[in-house]
Amino acid sequence: MGEREALPIIIKGLKRLEYRGYDSAGVALLDKEGLSIYKKKGKVSELENHLAKFGDLGSKIGIGHTRWATHGEPNDVNAHPHYSSNEKFAMIHNGIIENYDVLKTDLIKKGYEFRSETDSEVFIKFIEDVYVNNYCSLEEAVRLALHKVVGAYAIVIMNLEEPDTLIAARKGSPLVIGVGEDEYFLASDATPIIEYTNQVVYLDDYEIAVIRNNKLQIKTIENVETNPYINQLEMELEAIEKGGYEHFMLKEINEQPRSIADCMRGRLDAKNGRLVLGGLRDYLNKFQNAERIIITACGTSWHAGLVAEYLFEEFARIPVEVEYASEFRYRNPVISEKDFVIAISQSGETADTLAAIELAKSKGATIFGVCNVVGSSIARATHAGSYTHAGPEIGVASTKAFTAQISVLAMMALKLGYQRGTISEARYMHLLAELETIPSKVERALKLNDKIKEIAWEYKDSRNFLYLGRGYNFPVALEGALKLKEISYIHAEGYPAAEMKHGPIALIDQEMPVVFIATKDSSYEKVVSNIQEVKARKGRIIAVVTEGDTTVKHMADHTIEIPETEEAFVPLLSVIPLQQLSYHIAVMRGCNVDQPRNLAKSVTVE
Ligand code: AGP
Repeated sequence: MGEREALPIIIKGLKRLEYRGYDSAGVALLDKEGLSIYKKKGKVSELENHLAKFGDLGSKIGIGHTRWATHGEPNDVNAHPHYSSNEKFAMIHNGIIENYDVLKTDLIKKGYEFRSETDSEVFIKFIEDVYVNNYCSLEEAVRLALHKVVGAYAIVIMNLEEPDTLIAARKGSPLVIGVGEDEYFLASDATPIIEYTNQVVYLDDYEIAVIRNNKLQIKTIENVETNPYINQLEMELEAIEKGGYEHFMLKEINEQPRSIADCMRGRLDAKNGRLVLGGLRDYLNKFQNAERIIITACGTSWHAGLVAEYLFEEFARIPVEVEYASEFRYRNPVISEKDFVIAISQSGETADTLAAIELAKSKGATIFGVCNVVGSSIARATHAGSYTHAGPEIGVASTKAFTAQISVLAMMALKLGYQRGTISEARYMHLLAELETIPSKVERALKLNDKIKEIAWEYKDSRNFLYLGRGYNFPVALEGALKLKEISYIHAEGYPAAEMKHGPIALIDQEMPVVFIATKDSSYEKVVSNIQEVKARKGRIIAVVTEGDTTVKHMADHTIEIPETEEAFVPLLSVIPLQQLSYHIAVMRGCNVDQPRNLAKSVTVE
C-alpha cells in the first residue's frame, strides 16, 4: 500500500511465500472496478495467467494470499481472499478458526449465505455481522469480533469505502509489517518485504494494526494503543525463505513443537477430558465395533502405521494389521465390511496407497484417511478422515508429518479405548494430560542438536548403520534408518533389537555403528542386554535413552538423553535425535538434503 502499483508487488510476494502453501492463490484490489477479487486453484502462476485476461488492473492498494488448505479443498471458491456478504470487505486469513462451525450456524440463522467451505469466509462474515449490528467502524468491528473468535489467525482486511486503509490482526499465526517511505507491506514473514525495506514491525498476538493515509497505528484488542517497535532486518533474502534455516528439512524438524500443537489444537482438551476428532464422529460406531483395523501406507507413513499398531492394540484391544500399500493392493487380501481401514499419507497423492484404498473400498471396508494435504486425492477417496495440520512439508524426507501422524493416531487410539471401555477413566485422563505435554518435551529434545552434530561428525564416513529398538521403538528404529538412507545415501537397517541375534549380529564389528533406542520402558532390561551383546563384539554404540539414565551411559560410546514420557508416546520424542543425526550426517557428506537423488516428495507413480 503506497504509491507503487500494488499487483506486481503482491504477485512477487506470493511467489516468495509459496513454500508455505501452494494449493490456490488470489488477490483483492481496489481498482477502477471497485473492490475486486481474482483467485484460482493452483500455484501463483495460475493466478497470474488468470489476471492477464483483465488487462491493466491499476491499483495502489491490494492484498494477496497463497493457500495451504485447512478447511475446504483447494479450488477457486475456497481460495482467498473472501468477500463479506455486502462485498464491501475483502479478507485474507492464515490460521484455523476452531469455533467456525458455531459461528457459521448462527450466521446462517441470520440469513447469511456461504459460497465456500472455509472457516475464513465465516470469519469475515462474522466481522461484517458485528459491524452491521453495532453501527461501528470496521476496525472496531474487527476488535469486537476477535473477542469471540477461537483459534489462530493472521488477517488483513480491505474496505471499499476506505480505499486508503488496511486493517490487520494476529493471534498464533505470524504477521510482519514492512515500513517503507510512504508505503507499507504486510506478510506472513519477511521474505516478500526485505527487497523493499529492512524496517519491520512484528505484530504480536492480540494486536490490531490499522494503516490509514500512510500512518500506522497499533492497538490491542482491549483497545490499548501501543507504540510500534521498528526492527532492523539483518537476514539475507535467501535465508528467510527457509525461515532462517539452511534447509527446509531442518526447519521442519524444528517446527515439530508447533506442528504437533497445531495437530492437537481444537481436538485435545486434557483438563476437561475432551478429545474431539471431527472426522471420526460419523464412523465412531463402526470404528469401535470393528473386528480388525488394517493400516495401509508407504515409507515413513508406514512406520507411523506400525506405531499405531501398538497404540490401537494397547488402548483399544482391536487386532491391527499394518500393510505396505504396494503389497496389499496386489495380494488379493481378505477384506470384509467389518474391517476398518486407515490410510496414512502426508501428500495424500501416493499412488500405491490410493490404489489400496480403492481395493479395500470395493470389498466393503470403511476407509479413514490421515493426511496432511487438505483436499488431496487420498483425502477425497476415503469415507472420512483427520488432517494432521502439520503445514507444508517441503523437504523430501518426512519429519514433522511423521510426528503429526502419530499424534493423530494416538488421539484416535485413546478415543477408541475410552469408547470401548478398555482404558479406565483415570488412565484416560492421565494419558490426555501427558499427550498435551509432548510439544514442550519435543522442544527440549530439539536442544540436543549440537551434541548430535558432534556425533554426526564422528560417523559421517561410516558405510553401514544398524538401528535397533523394541516395542514402540521398533518402528522408530526403522524410521531412523530410512531417514539416514534417503538423505545421506549410507546403507542403514532398522531391526527389532531381539532379532539381531538371529542373523544381523554377524555384521557387528568396530566399523559398524549401532543406534539403540533404549528408553525406560517395559523392554528396557532386554535392550540393555542387546547393547551388551553388541559391545562384546566391539560394535560402536549410539544410544537414545531417557533423561537420567545411568546404566546405558557406561556401555554406549554416546548417549542422547530425551525427556521421559508415557511408553506409548516415546516415538514422538525418540525420533527427534534420529532426524537430527541423519540431517547433520547428510549435510557433512555434501548431500542435497531437501531434494535427495532419485527421490520425489510425492510418489504418484506405481
Ligand atoms: C519419507 O521420508 C519418504 N519421503 C517417503 O518414504 C514417504 O514417506 C512415502 O513416499 C509416503 O509418502 P506419503 O506419506 O506422502 O504417502
